[in-house]
Amino acid sequence: MREGTATVIRREDYAAPAYWIRSVELTFDLDPVKTLVTNRMQVERNPHATTQTLRLDGEDLNLLRVLVNGESVSFRVENQQLVLENLPAESFTLELRNTCSPEKNTQLSGLYTSSGGFFTQCEAQGFRRITYFLDRPDVMAVYTVTLKADRAKYPVLLSNGNLVEQGPLDNGKHYAKWHDPFPKPSYLFALVAAKLVCREQKIRAASGREHLLQVYVRAGDLDKTEHAMHSLIASVAWDERRFGLSLDLDRFMIVAVSDFNMGAMENKGLNIFNTKYVLANPATATDVDHAGIESVVGHEYFHNWTGNRVTCRDWFQLSLKEGLTVFRDQEFSQDLAGTPSARAVKRIDDVRTLRQHQFPEDAGPMAHPVRPDSYLAIDNFYTATVYDKGAEVVRMMQTLVGRDGFARGMTLYFERHDGQAVTCDDFAQAIADANPGSALAHKLEQFKRWYSQAGTPRVAARGLYNAEMRTYTLELSQHCPPTPGQSEKQPFVIPVALGLVGRNAQPLPLQLVGENAPAGTERVLVLSEAAQRFEFTGIEVEPVPSLLRGFSAPVILEDTLSDADLLTLLAHDADPFNRWEAGQRLALNRLLAAIKGDGVLQLDGAYVDAMRAVIRHPALDAAFKELVLTLPGESYIAEQLEEVDPQRIHAVRESMRLQLAHALHAEWEWAYEVHQDQGGYSPDPVSTGRRALVSLSLAYLCLAAAEKQVPLWPGKAYQRFKDAGNMTDRLGALSALVGAHSELAAPALERFHAMFRDEALVVDKWFALQATAPEKGGRVFARVKTLMSHPDFSLRNPNRARSLVTALCFSNPAAFHRTDAAGYVFWAERVLELDAINPQLAARLARAMDRWKQLAEPYRSAAREAIARVAAKGELSDDVREIVTRALA
Ligand code: ARG
Ligand code: ZN
Repeated sequence: MREGTATVIRREDYAAPAYWIRSVELTFDLDPVKTLVTNRMQVERNPHATTQTLRLDGEDLNLLRVLVNGESVSFRVENQQLVLENLPAESFTLELRNTCSPEKNTQLSGLYTSSGGFFTQCEAQGFRRITYFLDRPDVMAVYTVTLKADRAKYPVLLSNGNLVEQGPLDNGKHYAKWHDPFPKPSYLFALVAAKLVCREQKIRAASGREHLLQVYVRAGDLDKTEHAMHSLIASVAWDERRFGLSLDLDRFMIVAVSDFNMGAMENKGLNIFNTKYVLANPATATDVDHAGIESVVGHEYFHNWTGNRVTCRDWFQLSLKEGLTVFRDQEFSQDLAGTPSARAVKRIDDVRTLRQHQFPEDAGPMAHPVRPDSYLAIDNFYTATVYDKGAEVVRMMQTLVGRDGFARGMTLYFERHDGQAVTCDDFAQAIADANPGSALAHKLEQFKRWYSQAGTPRVAARGLYNAEMRTYTLELSQHCPPTPGQSEKQPFVIPVALGLVGRNAQPLPLQLVGENAPAGTERVLVLSEAAQRFEFTGIEVEPVPSLLRGFSAPVILEDTLSDADLLTLLAHDADPFNRWEAGQRLALNRLLAAIKGDGVLQLDGAYVDAMRAVIRHPALDAAFKELVLTLPGESYIAEQLEEVDPQRIHAVRESMRLQLAHALHAEWEWAYEVHQDQGGYSPDPVSTGRRALVSLSLAYLCLAAAEKQVPLWPGKAYQRFKDAGNMTDRLGALSALVGAHSELAAPALERFHAMFRDEALVVDKWFALQATAPEKGGRVFARVKTLMSHPDFSLRNPNRARSLVTALCFSNPAAFHRTDAAGYVFWAERVLELDAINPQLAARLARAMDRWKQLAEPYRSAAREAIARVAAKGELSDDVREIVTRALA
């Protein structure tokens, strides 16, 4: 148990460190029980600092020796810090020796063991769990690292940068010495010592420089590294092409580890990845997994510039690197997808993620600005807001200055700040300065409210057509609801991309009053006042406004579009995002009407006909059809309501699914037949989309069959499950059976487990599929409780814990929110149990209750009680305490 110190850290308290550490030599005698660390630092006093006391951070360390310029000195350890006073005037060598215990490190922060190897995770504050240090990102040092370990058990010894020496030692040990020429903050340090094999490839970059790329995995996993390697090669090429940024190292390594708190980590030259984001072959990984690998490999690689070459001054600036790097990985995947339609599919996917995770966060007790003002545990701020809303903020900058202007801004950013630790202001300033005439430059200070104000702004839109004058007046206004600690908000700068669609389906030319000519059929309006009007002239027919195209700002649009308007957009909008959005809103309107009304949903002909037209549409891609035909999720529906009854939402949505299954039966059959795979597996956007539509069709067909008790489609699904040539189809068929509560689901699940019992990532899918099955009479919840004692289950492995516990609590509202409160009791027990093992993971799980205040009774009172029970526990980590305290505030 790591009991908290409960000190709130505030952004306004930032002060430069009293000392700089310019270089560090680390030597590790690696042993799982007790690893000896020798740490020799070149330290320099910061002449501007107000104190001369040196305080080095440390956590769970055993300190053995402290030498200054080779002499012992007096020191004390106070609040987990090593405190030194009366130090030499300018620069000196500080040598420390300490031990730590990797095998006891179940938090997976710092140096830990996994499957018999050593791995590190230092972001945000793991380095202090390895040795005492100025563990803050504005202290950048050059690292030289020597690793010593048993040669047979740990044949591979890796650290950042270049390998400069290696060789045998006595007693069956060996060593390797690494040097990283780039000064870096401690959070980018990494080491690996393990029995691994690697796929490697030499590439010649556009710059002409040769690089060695390596992907390290366990011996049995080499056949699952091709996709990661391809993604890495594509990433290197993309960053050169799009931003002129090349790889600055001779060697770039990715290492996969099966115990990992997050997705992956961008340590300089030595990225460490959760196996989930490296390992894939057609038999074990789905299309979604392949896409995840592509984007995470890209993400970590892109950090080499946005994060490593230019890093954060302090952790409040986290979005400087994360928002920007998410934006970059999203653009990368869109560029790789290629066609406008495939790009739109990726964009829709990203927006769905934002709305599913970030919007609720921004509306709940953990709402915080993209650049937070304070924290108790920084690990709690690796959030959807910092990452995904942060990415939207960067995207809005690009929208305001244009693609080329944004690339110029990036160039200026690196010209100014390469090698520095900087702030979000520095980034925004560079983009604006490179585009002096732009709306961003004119309104930069106001634009930066996106960094300082939390909450999702609401934009209301009202259009008025004047048939006589041929004008169309669009009134836009904005307001942002209060969030914790911020009751009043100032207006944001909101780019609103729009088009006007004629009732005859034609895009209309967009000319504002006062302009001499139309500026095309799509343009970006900038809403920066509380309310503004835009008047278009020469509008020959009454238009339907298509607003916020491509989701041009992270806001909630409140317009007055009728069903007929939405049907027009669904059929004719030139913007695929808004076309999809129109379909979602048609579904949402029906769902919400039933939920707020008598709970009965009767599907109307207009909606069914529109969906039929989408399925049968000759020109739309399968991937896009699948997105339109997937109903909004239960938690997204919940976000639209003032008071939430999760059981009612589930019942109404299930009823809509069932009606769609029946009403479009012929279409599902048709779609299932004509989109079958031809030939071998490839995770490209076109075949991915076809498989997704086939799986969706099969799910609807099984659902319809279950209701009518006809075994044909479940039988076909079982057959498909057995014979599938790839994991996407196999899991699709299996989940169709599970989702329809078919009798064949149990034998199929059993068979699936038997086939893949040795593939950890597939076993995770097996748990997750059961935890997210549509609830029916409490069966799913009961099954999850049973699975907790399955021999393959463990809370110690984060992926496994997430596959069952997180999946239930976050992704299965109807199974989790029970009138008997059993779900909340389960949650409280798991949070406490996990907190003793891994506080970061426990705190993530704790957030399943973020939106408790929105719940109807009896859920609400029961939820509060469960949170209070956790909060009342004496020895909580800072991580969990921060979450439950905010939830109860
Ligand atoms: N920088 C990593 C990434 O987004 C995330 C590491 C976060 N780790 C943590 N313990 N909070 O690529
Ligand atoms: Zn990142």
